[in-house]
Amino acid sequence: MWGPEGLDEIEAGLLGPPEELDGRRVLEIGAGAAQCARWLAAQGARPVALDLSHRQLQHALRIGGAFPLVCADAGALPFADGSFDLACSAYGALPFVADPVQVLKEVRRVLRPGGRFVFSVTHPIRWAFPDEPGPEGLSVSASYFDRTPYVEQDEEGRAVYVEHHRTIGDRVRDVVAGGFRLVDVVEPEWPAWNTSEWGGWSPLRGNLIPGTAIFVCERG
Ligand SMILES: C[S@@+](CC[C@H](N)C(=O)[O-])C[C@H]1O[C@@H](n2cnc3c(N)ncnc32)[C@H](O)[C@@H]1O
Repeated sequence: MWGPEGLDEIEAGLLGPPEELDGRRVLEIGAGAAQCARWLAAQGARPVALDLSHRQLQHALRIGGAFPLVCADAGALPFADGSFDLACSAYGALPFVADPVQVLKEVRRVLRPGGRFVFSVTHPIRWAFPDEPGPEGLSVSASYFDRTPYVEQDEEGRAVYVEHHRTIGDRVRDVVAGGFRLVDVVEPEWPAWNTSEWGGWSPLRGNLIPGTAIFVCERG
């Protein structure tokens, strides 16, 4: 699943035709509980699920799956050059790092020539709107161009959650600076079947403004 709209890889085929995933070495970045790696394994692929959070990987372990889990930073991947055919990330790592080009360079390094990296992030336009599912979430309240990160702190002033904003143009430049060719930017539309409402996600907003941007990149 690429994002809250509900677009899944069977429908999207962004990593290539699902029947061609069999035997492919796939790295999932910012895997969380490794939903994507689990699906990839079910297609016959050979996924590796990587996340910075030990806690998230414990959830992945509890749910199960016959693939390796790796606790590491996406900006310093513990793999040899050209180890993977494909890489993917659904809202993993890239929105949370100050230096996304470093992550992209690392992913490029561990991909074989011609390999694809497909990643989804919150659509940058959402930065300008309040994170509310109702009509209050439809009025611009902040500058789209303000790159000041969103930070939540604990009582001691330590950052416990940080999200970095990149405009669409920033993301395109990052992909190119990371050494990739940008093949497509997919903006999934909110489907009629999805009536869910949670956080800032809702059919009301989803029908009017994009929520997810998926970048399809290829290593030259
Ligand atoms: C919003 S969750 C997405 C999880 C999963 N991909 C999904 O679709 O549910 C973001 C994940 O990225 C991980 N993450 C954040 N920064 C990271 C980094 N620098 N390296 C690796 N993983 C990171 C977080 O620990 C978290 O599990």
